[in-house]
Amino acid sequence: MKAVILAGGTGTRLHPLTLAVNKHLLPVFDKPVIYHAIEKLVDAGISKIMIVTSPHHIDSFVKLLGSGQHFRSRTKKGKQIQIVYAIQNEPSGIAHGLYFAEDYIGNDNCVLFLGDNIIMDNIAPSIKKFKKGASVFLKKVRDPERFGVATIDSKGKVTGIEEKPVKPKSNLAVTGLYIYDNTVFKKIRQIPKSKRGEYEITDLNNLYIKEGTLNSHVLKKEWFDIGTIHSLHEASVFMRKKSNNERKI
Ligand code: G1P
Repeated sequence: MKAVILAGGTGTRLHPLTLAVNKHLLPVFDKPVIYHAIEKLVDAGISKIMIVTSPHHIDSFVKLLGSGQHFRSRTKKGKQIQIVYAIQNEPSGIAHGLYFAEDYIGNDNCVLFLGDNIIMDNIAPSIKKFKKGASVFLKKVRDPERFGVATIDSKGKVTGIEEKPVKPKSNLAVTGLYIYDNTVFKKIRQIPKSKRGEYEITDLNNLYIKEGTLNSHVLKKEWFDIGTIHSLHEASVFMRKKSNNERKI
């Protein structure tokens, strides 16, 4: 399994912090936002990661992450972590960002991680048991209208997803972590541009729903989407507390 982290976007809701700096490079207490996605993937046994970002910021990512050498020490046997980069010239949606990774993924399955998401659950078991179709990770939230919102049946199969609905049908937000089988690239080619001119991840997931192959996993621990000043601050406060607690142990 390989992984793709999307780290483009303009971060307008975080202005002025993101006027000169890409939001994935901002600090969350003691680490840049994107470290959290990389560490989560490395801890789940993934060693090949592609970062997709805009031409304006790619040099900062390379300076920060290099070939992935800093993350090697997280693996049990000092396994080499290989980070590669791709440039997305126009921000044309999440599904469009993933499309750049088609050749890189080859015949593999892939994990898609939105680089502004921080997930505290261990994702290794879901990655290990994944075989085909797709999986989304859901989280119960108080403000589902800010996200993609899923409905599921008693077995956890996803029956529908609506993108930022005015009247959400559930309180289950779709987080920025997805696992796809290799049919994903064929599916991306089938989706049309949305009204806002983007290739939407929800349209892609709806193709899996149509096939009856979209499974879900409900996250139990904290989840942060660093899209606003408040959530960025909240995540920093959480990480500081976590670090204090770990020091006491
Ligand atoms: C995107 C997705 C949305 C998902 C969210 C998670 O929204 O379109 O379905 O719930 O990421 O972070 P965005 O944050 O790009 O508005």
